Amino acid sequence: MTTPQQPGGPLRSFGRLKARPLKSRQAALFDSLLPKVAVSAEGPVAISGETWMEIGFGGGEHLAAQAARHPDIAFLGAEPFVNGVASALRHIEEGGLENVRLWQGDARELIARLPSAALRRVFILFPDPWPKARHHKRRLIQADFVADLARVMASGARLRFATDWENYAEEGRAVIDASPLFEAVAADQNLAPEDHVVTRYEEKKLGDIAPVWFDWTKL
Ligand SMILES: C[S@@+](CC[C@H](N)C(=O)[O-])C[C@H]1O[C@@H](n2cnc3c(N)ncnc32)[C@H](O)[C@@H]1O
Repeated sequence: MTTPQQPGGPLRSFGRLKARPLKSRQAALFDSLLPKVAVSAEGPVAISGETWMEIGFGGGEHLAAQAARHPDIAFLGAEPFVNGVASALRHIEEGGLENVRLWQGDARELIARLPSAALRRVFILFPDPWPKARHHKRRLIQADFVADLARVMASGARLRFATDWENYAEEGRAVIDASPLFEAVAADQNLAPEDHVVTRYEEKKLGDIAPVWFDWTKL
């Protein structure tokens, strides 16, 4: 479970933790399946084999689809939103997925516990846009966060960021481009990458532009 933000720690980057009450089946999965797939609550996180991570997986549809496509890769998903975790648990159960582990909480806490160079791919798809200028400081993609991410990504690993908010596209891209540890992959930002799986938030089209896509290679 996510912890309140520590004094002096990063600002909260997510919105609500819970929306509607869980249906009884979802609640049952919290009791039966979550303990089996949850990342341990403390200590270093053990990594074995190629590992990909999705930060803020929302309903988990992208996470589950990628995990089903790549059964030999281990997936870590981080998401503090209870209903999102419940939805991901349903996808894991329905897909019989054995290669997904979930962290119900702030991805930044999980990243801090990962060994260096643990990850081969990281997805940040439609992170909370915080569109008001006074809230931009809550955005997940900040220089410190990018440095922390770089530590846990192997050389040659890929990072993907997608958003449908113009200002976040510009700002997020600039922050990552400014890191000497990432190199942009040349691609048409207006085309969803071939391996993309449409997410629930993306389908809502709440942003002020059509989605844009950016990939980087960790140097
Ligand atoms: C706008 S939603 C998009 C969800 C999903 N990626 C999609 O495209 O449908 C952003 C999600 O990021 C999650 N989030 C925000 N800050 C986070 C953090 N620090 N760690 C993990 N998840 C976070 C929020 O709880 C929310 O579910």
